[in-house]
Amino acid sequence: MITNTEIERRGNQHPNQITEFRQDNDKLYFTTQNGVILEIMVMRDSVVRFRYATEHVFEPDFSYAISENVSLGYNELDVKEEPPEYAITTGKIKIYVKKSNLKVQITDLEDNIINEDEQGFHWEESYDYGGNIVKMSKVTQSAESYYGMGDKASHTNLKGKRINNWATDSYAYGKDQEPLYKSIPFYVGLNKNIAYGIFFDNSFRTHFDFAHERRNITSFWADGGEMNYYFFYGPKISKVVESYTNLTGVPELPPMWALGFHQSKWSYYPEKKVKDITSKFRELKIPCDAIYLDIDYMEGFRCFTWDNRRFPNPKKMVDELQKDGFKTVTMIDPGIKIDRDYWVYQQAMDNGFFCRRADGPHFKGKVWPGECKFPDFTNPEVREWWAGLYKEMIADIGVHGVWNDMNEPAVMEVPSKTANLDVRHDYDGHPCSHRKAHNVYGMQMVRATFEGMKKFTFPRRPFVLTRAGYSGTQRYCATWTGDNVATWEHLWIANVQMQRMCMSGYSFVGSDIGGFAEQPNGELFARWVQLGVFHPFCRVHSSGDHGEQEPWSFGTEVTDIVRKFIELRYELLPYLYTMFYKYIKEGLPMLQSLVFYNQEDAQTHFRTDEFLFGEQILVCPVQEPNSQGRRMYIPKGKWYNYWTEEVVEGGAEKWVSAGIDKIPLFIKEGAMIPKYPVQQYVGEVEIDQLKVDVYFKDGVETSTVYEDQQDGYDYKKGRYSLRNFKLKGKQEGLSIQQFKDGSYRTAYETIKLHFHGLPFKIKTIEIDNDEVDFKSVKLNGNNSIEISKDFTSLYISAK
Ligand code: NOJ
Repeated sequence: MITNTEIERRGNQHPNQITEFRQDNDKLYFTTQNGVILEIMVMRDSVVRFRYATEHVFEPDFSYAISENVSLGYNELDVKEEPPEYAITTGKIKIYVKKSNLKVQITDLEDNIINEDEQGFHWEESYDYGGNIVKMSKVTQSAESYYGMGDKASHTNLKGKRINNWATDSYAYGKDQEPLYKSIPFYVGLNKNIAYGIFFDNSFRTHFDFAHERRNITSFWADGGEMNYYFFYGPKISKVVESYTNLTGVPELPPMWALGFHQSKWSYYPEKKVKDITSKFRELKIPCDAIYLDIDYMEGFRCFTWDNRRFPNPKKMVDELQKDGFKTVTMIDPGIKIDRDYWVYQQAMDNGFFCRRADGPHFKGKVWPGECKFPDFTNPEVREWWAGLYKEMIADIGVHGVWNDMNEPAVMEVPSKTANLDVRHDYDGHPCSHRKAHNVYGMQMVRATFEGMKKFTFPRRPFVLTRAGYSGTQRYCATWTGDNVATWEHLWIANVQMQRMCMSGYSFVGSDIGGFAEQPNGELFARWVQLGVFHPFCRVHSSGDHGEQEPWSFGTEVTDIVRKFIELRYELLPYLYTMFYKYIKEGLPMLQSLVFYNQEDAQTHFRTDEFLFGEQILVCPVQEPNSQGRRMYIPKGKWYNYWTEEVVEGGAEKWVSAGIDKIPLFIKEGAMIPKYPVQQYVGEVEIDQLKVDVYFKDGVETSTVYEDQQDGYDYKKGRYSLRNFKLKGKQEGLSIQQFKDGSYRTAYETIKLHFHGLPFKIKTIEIDNDEVDFKSVKLNGNNSIEISKDFTSLYISAK
């Protein structure tokens, strides 16, 4: 029986009166009479960290999420003590801390409330485990919207939802199912056109309630650890996402082949089957850059081994595939088979690298090979060892990429689907149980994989893929959204998941195109490819339980459609590569939900289907069978229908035709979209000319093209080519200026500008202020001209 005093003791506790204030440079400390300390750290004028200690003691300050390259520095920090509160002013925001109860209110400099504590910080002692259940509640404004939170399979706007983060193997998950594979406790709030973000950096299971339980309250809490969150002020969503991305980091540029089309299945074996698949791609002229080997390439599912009957000479096979333009990507799981004769197992045993239960024995769990033990990737020594294990596979055999699967970690035949909560972890010198380490386990595994890959792939760039992840995992690898299903609903889910991930700082994402579980019909497969080519990571993968899921598995009509869209992706590679460059340079997500693109327009706040691919291409998948098109919202501004070149005025919902061989696709007016010729794989042909589609605009628009060697690290030394174009159009003239940066000389010498929607007939052409004759620029009708790649200005006019 629970006694009254116990209930009281178990209840929520709140901070009371502030009794002490102290400032230490950028850190402010407020201590309450009942032992709570609030540390406010001003990192930038618009980025502030809030940390709360109870009983006067902070935990050691350690996080796996935060990037080493985070930018710090503010213009202003002023603290005033007024009777009811402390007022802290930075160059962008004001923070009020109430003296009587430590509640926080954040406003902009015009005193618009951005974010306000309801109960604010409170906590409950965790009687079962020790420590606190730490909680925060905030006021929800009536028109406030919420976005972000990683891979959630829910409406892009999370208002009214309750979610939780606990990396979980979620085979055949459904819409709104919670939790999924990743844990990204970051959200964007938007109210009255002011956006802010909150990142609750706590690796325990976290919970978020976005005005679900109580209409006016948004709260978040964790099963343990510290109340430790970062606040980002916009007022633009883009600014919030950039700041979060800057805090948690970005990846390096991937090799360009990683942005090509990839084909996978569980599993392609033996070698002959792999070759049959790759040959078929070449025979049918469907571009493809990578082929995946799932678990069955291993000897009895032992990681870092090969089944020599299925793959007698992996090095030779990988070489041959490479000659045919295919990169090989192999799977590595965390579970290590318990087998005294297996070298990986032996090494881990000899060095004490496996996780242990609370009372000492090793933690054991069943995965593909049967009983396994699991390395403790939160131990730096274990990560170093794990990185070294890749030597043979990468340096000797020549494998190009690795995907880490089941790294939640997934455990079979137990209700929790994962490790026991008492399992011990090093947590980089902060020993803890699995309750705290669970959500970062996969991240630390893939981090070690990345380190190994990077070392053994050098001087080329590594490619790594993960299923599980915590905030910051984007620094190491691409990710996919796990075991989805071949249904139309999952096509919708894939679309929102990718947008949401991009909004959460993690842009290098894709779904299993066509669905992992069950079988798509040709129509669904075609529609999914049409969407998938506009996702940063583009791979067909399926469980293999139900037959074939290759581009040619559904008859010639579908094969032709699939080819056409994969070809379009290859044409758009320079555009896509530039998107990636902008993502890592500026923190700009590669896909933009409509609300991200135009938050001023309230129509965008609840849209789910339309999104921007990069900054200038609007995409909206067809998500129902037997459709000849769909209704969609076109954001404000003028857009060219990619297929018909018709110009439409946005700001309204429109019917857009898109039979089975089309997807609604629009180009922003004024855009200059770079294209490469179709190649069967990246690097197949030397690009002898850059084609740029120029979409006329009466007005100004800027566009960028980033290029480099497509692999290697010379780009970090300035060996890249950045073209910034400024287009200025009028009814009887169009000028384009080019500003260049970087020391990389592209192989091509000329750029072919292809004009769309020119309202006048070209009469004169000036390049770098000199009039040139039409022949020298190969004017083709009124449609295109070819000019030197080094031009600085072009002017075409009707006069
Ligand atoms: C689960 C993964 O999500 C899936 O992609 C993979 O094919 C299977 N494990 C088998 O390795």
